[in-house]
Amino acid sequence: MISIAIDGPAGAGKSTLSRKVAEQLGYIYVDTGALYRAVGLKFSRIGADTELNCDIEGTLKDTKVDIRFVDGEQRVFLDNEDVSGEIRTPVASMMASAVSAKPPVRAFLLEMQRLLAKENNVVMDGRDIGTVVLPNSTVKIYLTASAEDRAQRRYDELVLKGENVTFKEVYDDMVKRDYNDMHRAIAPLKQAQDAVVADTTGFSPEQSLELLLKIVREGLENR
Ligand code: DC
Repeated sequence: MISIAIDGPAGAGKSTLSRKVAEQLGYIYVDTGALYRAVGLKFSRIGADTELNCDIEGTLKDTKVDIRFVDGEQRVFLDNEDVSGEIRTPVASMMASAVSAKPPVRAFLLEMQRLLAKENNVVMDGRDIGTVVLPNSTVKIYLTASAEDRAQRRYDELVLKGENVTFKEVYDDMVKRDYNDMHRAIAPLKQAQDAVVADTTGFSPEQSLELLLKIVREGLENR
C-alpha cells in the first residue's frame, strides 16, 4: 500500500490540501487531528479542562472513536455519535492539543491509524505521521507557513462559519498550540529527517496544491 504522510503545524492547510491530493490520486484521506479532537471532546463532556486532572485511562476504556467514510468523506464518531461538526470549535482545538500530549491517548489512537494505512492507499495528515505512525510512508511532507499566514487562514475559515472570534485570539491560540504540539514529550511535531518541506507562506490555495502535487509526484516516481 502507498501512504503519503503530511505533517505540520496548525493552520498550514493540511486538511484542505491533503483531501485534494487524495482526490487526485484516488486514495483515502485520513485526518488524524479529528481523532484527537474527538477524544478531546469526550474529556470536555466529562467535565475535564485542559489540565486533565482526571482518570485518563479509565475514561479511554469507556470511549469509542471511529471514522467512517460517507461518500468518500471522513466522518468521525465518538461513542457512535457523529461529532464531525462539533470538534471544529476553538475550544475543541485546545482540548485536542491537551489530550494529544498524553501517552495513553496516543497509544489509544495509534493502531487505528496504522490499520487504515495497512488496508488502504492513504494520504494521512497530522503531527507525527512521518515520524511515528508511518515511519515507512512512501512520501513524507512537512507542510508549513508563517504563523501570521496560518492564523489569517484559520481566522477566515472561522469567520466564514460564523464563529465570533478576533484575529488576535486565533493567532494567540495558534502560537500556543504550536508550542504545546512541538514541546510535548511524546511524538512532538517535528519534521521527519526524510520529509520534504513545503512552505506555503504567501501562496494561494491553488499554488499550495500545485506545490504539494509536484512533491508527491516526484516522491512516487522515485520510490
Ligand atoms: O490537525 P488538527 O489541528 O485538527 O489537530 C488537533 C490537535 O491534535 C493538534 O493540536 C495536535 C493533535 N494532533 C496530534 O498530536 N497528532 C496528530 N497526528 C494529529 C493531531
